[in-house]
Amino acid sequence: MKISPSILPCDFGRLADEIKAVEAGGADWIHIDVMDGHFVPNITIGPVITEGARNAAEVPLDVHLMIEAPERYLEVFAKAGADILTVHQEACKNLAPTIARIRELGVLAGVAVNPDTPLEDVQHVLKDVDLLLVMSVHPGFGGQAYIPSSTSKVRRARQMLDGLGSDAELEVDGGIDEGNAAEVAGAGATVLVAGSAIYGHPQGPVDGVRAIRRAVGAEVA
Ligand code: DX5
Ligand code: ZN
Repeated sequence: MKISPSILPCDFGRLADEIKAVEAGGADWIHIDVMDGHFVPNITIGPVITEGARNAAEVPLDVHLMIEAPERYLEVFAKAGADILTVHQEACKNLAPTIARIRELGVLAGVAVNPDTPLEDVQHVLKDVDLLLVMSVHPGFGGQAYIPSSTSKVRRARQMLDGLGSDAELEVDGGIDEGNAAEVAGAGATVLVAGSAIYGHPQGPVDGVRAIRRAVGAEVA
């Protein structure tokens, strides 16, 4: 099980330290939430901060593009240091060529589905992706509550990937905390994203990562 802390709620004045803290807690990846004010109402991180995160982080950067027509920015984010680029099904006119382009750039390719988007809408690209991201909140803001029906969607996503013989990662993003991490992991997720549960942990982000690792029965750094 991998943990990918979202830096969205971190103190950006101390970005390098905030990244080092979650790495000390055992973060496997760093999750970067890119929002454009169109696909989602919020505006957050762009390529400049992504590059800053790249310079601070030792682990792979897991870049979640919540932007309309993401094909316009793939190269920019690859250059900024993304190791994984995930695009939304709802934001892409031509999903298959977008996935192919990400791979051409030498980056792992992910596809994301919103809570209301059926998994069938990405079935045609599943054999070509390195990661499937199931959103467990409506994208746009951190700190939202986990949508309970996400667990059965993750279970179905697990069956679809297994049915294809795919070893793609199955990532779940939104409202994950130490209380529900084991349930999501049990449904077949291989990567858990968490923002507020980690950076808002009463003992700080190092313990925030450890708490989730412990909850899923993973070794604690
Ligand atoms: C939501 C983002 C998530 C989210 C994670 O649009 O993609 O990565 O902010 O944060 P929490 O764990 O606070 O839901
Ligand atoms: Zn995200």
